[in-house]
Amino acid sequence: MRLLISLIALLSIQLSATDNTSTCKRCHPTIYSEFQTSLHKKSSIKEDKIHAAVWNKHPAKPKGNYKCAKCHTPNNTAHEGISCLTCHTITAIEHHPKTNKNIYETKPKTLYSAEKGMEDKKIVYHEERSWFGLVTKTTGSPYHDIDYRNKNFYTGKVCMGCHSHKQNGKGFTVCQTDMKGAKSQESNCITCHMPKVKGSATSIRQSKTHAFHGFAGVSNSAEMLAKYVNIDFKKASKGFSITVENKAPHALLTHPLRVVQLKTTLKRDGKKEALKTETFVKVIGTNNKPSMPWLATQVVKDNMIKAKEKRVISFEKELQRGDEIEIILGYYIVNPKAVKKLGLEKEKGLTSFTVLKHSYFKIP
Ligand code: HEC
Ligand code: HEC
Ligand code: HEC
Ligand code: HEC
Ligand code: HEC
Repeated sequence: MRLLISLIALLSIQLSATDNTSTCKRCHPTIYSEFQTSLHKKSSIKEDKIHAAVWNKHPAKPKGNYKCAKCHTPNNTAHEGISCLTCHTITAIEHHPKTNKNIYETKPKTLYSAEKGMEDKKIVYHEERSWFGLVTKTTGSPYHDIDYRNKNFYTGKVCMGCHSHKQNGKGFTVCQTDMKGAKSQESNCITCHMPKVKGSATSIRQSKTHAFHGFAGVSNSAEMLAKYVNIDFKKASKGFSITVENKAPHALLTHPLRVVQLKTTLKRDGKKEALKTETFVKVIGTNNKPSMPWLATQVVKDNMIKAKEKRVISFEKELQRGDEIEIILGYYIVNPKAVKKLGLEKEKGLTSFTVLKHSYFKIP
């Protein structure tokens, strides 16, 4: 039921271009507070220390030509990161070689969203007053119209204006997320990174669940994504093997600053022995050496676990009955080799190892 009754009419509220995220808090408190923890909220130089550290090294910095705004502070205020209105006013995505481009709705009060069963509807707020104007019966949101007909919201394409790819000034692609992951209605960027969680989407019309707006990723709620990575163990005649399956439609991690590691420990007779650590990276650079992204002209090394790949890692250690194998798959958000160069030594919370998945096997 889209009909609701409010005693005190929410009448004089209007949506304008200057609206910020805190305006939405009133009627979407749960989504608002989740959003505060997301990297989207913190995408500006003011709030993202890693982004600021990289920007500080950028040759365009002294000229004050902040080139990152298009994706990191799309509201063009340099202070505020991505906001509620950024995504909910995207009408279309244009494809370009350097980066894609979001086309934003300019008509005030018009927001886009997705909801099952509403795919062909636009809900314009309207109210009927009765009881001497005291009781107002309303349909939709008193604050904005909602257009459910934008197909980009049903597949994850809405994410691809910013997440698809980025070329540097030398025409080299610095990072990339395959469009294939944003084509299916059943499994896409939104279903994995914004899963349905408990709690009402609005405080006005109660719903059991809403789409998670903390945007599960490397720096927030990674545990929500652990189920999309499978770790398997197999004993061989000599030694054993571990298989890491990446069920995501993109490389396990996509940003060139990241490092993924698989750490394996053998427990035998109460003693622990650390076996080899496998490291997965995509390093970009020039002259076969790593470099800052704006200088890069080539991929120097790429053993990152690819989209939908099952990577098998062999160990020569022979196992005995009763042995226990502990496997940890995790990552560094900032490559430890770049921490000092970026002046991030003091930011332990941003530079320490994060566990994505923990597995445990025992030899019978
Ligand atoms: C005065 C209350 C109010 C304010 C303020 C408000 N909304 Fe809403 N919003 C609602 C209500 C009520 C609905 C549910 C309408 C329905 O289901 O018919 C809604 C629905 C939505 C939806 C679509 C939900 C769906 O069913 O898929 C989106 C997206 C949304 N709001 C975004 C925003 C954003 C972004 C802001 C801030 C710019 C905002 N809202 C501010 C009341 C509000
Ligand atoms: C306006 C551009 C823009 C749009 C649209 C956008 N993103 Fe992002 N997203 C970013 C930027 C920029 C960052 C990195 C912010 C930072 O680290 O400073 C980011 C970060 C993320 C992260 C966190 C990654 C990590 O390393 O933890 C996830 C997950 C994510 N986005 C998913 C999505 C999904 C899903 C959508 C579509 C519903 C989407 N994004 C739409 C720009 C965008
Ligand atoms: C085309 C959109 C786009 C542009 C332009 C862009 N970025 Fe990003 N940036 C992203 C996205 C999306 C992410 C999230 C990580 C990912 O997708 O791999 C991100 C993440 C980052 C991160 C990782 C942040 C973290 O907290 O771990 C850094 C650092 C970064 N960007 C620096 C920059 C700098 C510096 C510029 C400008 C010179 C820039 N970006 C321009 C889209 C963009
Ligand atoms: C990075 C893009 C992005 C940002 C930023 C964003 N949203 Fe959303 N939002 C979406 C997408 C995509 C959906 C559709 C999810 C689905 O398929 O159910 C959605 C769904 C919603 C809904 C519909 C109900 C539901 O199932 O959750 C509401 C309400 C909403 N958003 C409000 C907000 C508010 C308020 C903010 C800011 C605090 C915000 N959104 C920020 C992308 C975004
Ligand atoms: C089947 C689930 C699944 C789908 C679909 C999916 N992802 Fe992911 N995504 C993951 C997993 C798993 C990770 C890695 C775990 C982590 O970030 O902690 C990840 C990581 C990311 C990151 C962080 C990368 C980094 O280096 O910081 C971003 C950004 C991201 N995904 C964006 C997207 C976008 C955009 C789409 C749609 C094209 C998408 N994802 C589709 C599961 C998925």
